[in-house]
Amino acid sequence: MDHFTYKNGALYAEDVALADIAKAVGTPFYCYSTATLVRHFRVFKEALADNNALIAYAVKANDTLAVLKTLAQEGSGADVVSGGEIHAALAAGIAPRSIVFSGVGKTRAEMEYALSQDIFQFNVESEAELHLLSTIASSLKKTAPIALRVNPDVIPQTHAKISTGQKESKFGVPIGEALALYANAAQLPGINVQGVSVHIGSQLTNLAPFASAFGRVVELVRELRKNGSAITTLDLGGGLGIPYGNTDAPPLPEAYAEIVKTATKGVDCRLIFEPGRVIVGNAGILVTEVIYVKHSETRRFIIVDAGMNDLARPTLYNAWHDIVPVKVDENAKTERVDVVGPVCETGDIFASDRLLRVPNAGDLLVFRSAGAYGASMASTYNARPLIPEVMVNGGEYAVVRKRQTYEELMQRDMLPDWL
Ligand code: LLP
Repeated sequence: MDHFTYKNGALYAEDVALADIAKAVGTPFYCYSTATLVRHFRVFKEALADNNALIAYAVKANDTLAVLKTLAQEGSGADVVSGGEIHAALAAGIAPRSIVFSGVGKTRAEMEYALSQDIFQFNVESEAELHLLSTIASSLKKTAPIALRVNPDVIPQTHAKISTGQKESKFGVPIGEALALYANAAQLPGINVQGVSVHIGSQLTNLAPFASAFGRVVELVRELRKNGSAITTLDLGGGLGIPYGNTDAPPLPEAYAEIVKTATKGVDCRLIFEPGRVIVGNAGILVTEVIYVKHSETRRFIIVDAGMNDLARPTLYNAWHDIVPVKVDENAKTERVDVVGPVCETGDIFASDRLLRVPNAGDLLVFRSAGAYGASMASTYNARPLIPEVMVNGGEYAVVRKRQTYEELMQRDMLPDWL
C-alpha cells in the first residue's frame, strides 16, 4: 500500500497534488511519501515481532539524507557498503552501533573509517579481507566485530544481475569453507568473531530460496557453537521483493517473517535484517513531462524528459515500472507505445509496447515504485544535471535534494596548465 492516490482524476502524494510540485520544482523529479516510508518500515518491523532485532536499512537503495533521517527516527540502523554510506548514515543520526558494513571490496581507508566510528559489525567476504581487517584493527589498537558473509549456493530465482547467493557469484565465502575460516579468524589479533551473515539477492518474489539459505546458515551457527565459537548475531540480509505491477504480488513481510521464525527457532542470536527495496521502493515515484509524441513507420514513441541516467533500472534489468498519468484524460485513446528518454542510446527505453492512454506533449507521467535504486543509481550521463528529490509529509512538501545547476555539474572539472 502506498500514499500516491487519485483524487478527482488528479494524482496526489499524500495530500499534495503532484501537478503543484511539478509547477514549483520543474520536471523531472523524484517524490517520496513520508507516510509510505514510515508505514513500510513499521510493517516490516512489526511482522518480525522481535524487539531485539536490528533492522539495518540498506542505504544503497536510497541514500538521500531526508529518507535516512526519517528511517533513523523510526529506529532503523543501516547496512552500508562504502565509506560514503557510513558517512551518510552517521549524518542522518544513525548510531554507529546500529551500522553493519557489507561489501566484497572494502578498502583500507574504509576499514579505518569504520573502525574509528566503532560500528556494530563488519560482514567479511573473503580470507584476504579478514587478514587486512585484522592488520588494520591491530595497528589502531581496535577490535573489529565480525561476521563472515557466507555464500550458501542457493538459486534466488531473480534477475541474474541481482543474484548474489550462488557459488558463481563474487559474494561471500563458500559455505563449505566457512568452518575453517572461522577457526582461522578466532586466532587473528584485532578480530572478534560475533556472527554469521548471508544475503542471496534482491527482488526475491518466492520465499523458498530464503528458507533454504536461512536453513543452511542456522546449521552453520550450530556447528560453530559445537566447535566453541560464541556466535551471538545472525544477519539474514535483505532481498524481499515488491510489487512493480507486472507480476503477482510478492509475499508480504508477514510471510517472510514466518520463514524467518521457522528457520531460526531455538537459535539464540540477535537477528539482523538488511531490507532496502521493501522499505523505500513503493514510497517513491519519478515524475516526468512528455516532451514529444513521435511516430515512426512501426512505433509510437512517447519521449519524456527523464532519461536512463535518472532511472537506470529499465535499461539495466529490463525492469518494469508502472506508468500512470498525473491527470487522467478519460478521452485519450489507449494504444501500445514506447516510452523513451532523451539520452542518446537506443537502450534509453522505460517501456516498450506498453498499453497506455496516449498522452500529449506537456502532460505529466509518473513512473511508480521508483523509490529504491532510482535516485541512488542516477548519473549525469549526457551532461544531464541530477534531478531534484521532493519529500511529502501530509499536506507539506520540501525539496530534499536540489536540482544540480550547469555550474555544479562542472564544479569538479579543472584545466591543466597547458590549456
Ligand atoms: N544487503 C546486501 C549485502 C545487499 O547487497 C543488498 C542489495 C541489500 C542488503 C538490500 O537488498 P534489497 O532488500 O533492497 O533487495 N540495483 C538493483 C538492486 C541491487 C541490490 C544490491 N544489493 C535494482 O535496481 O534492482
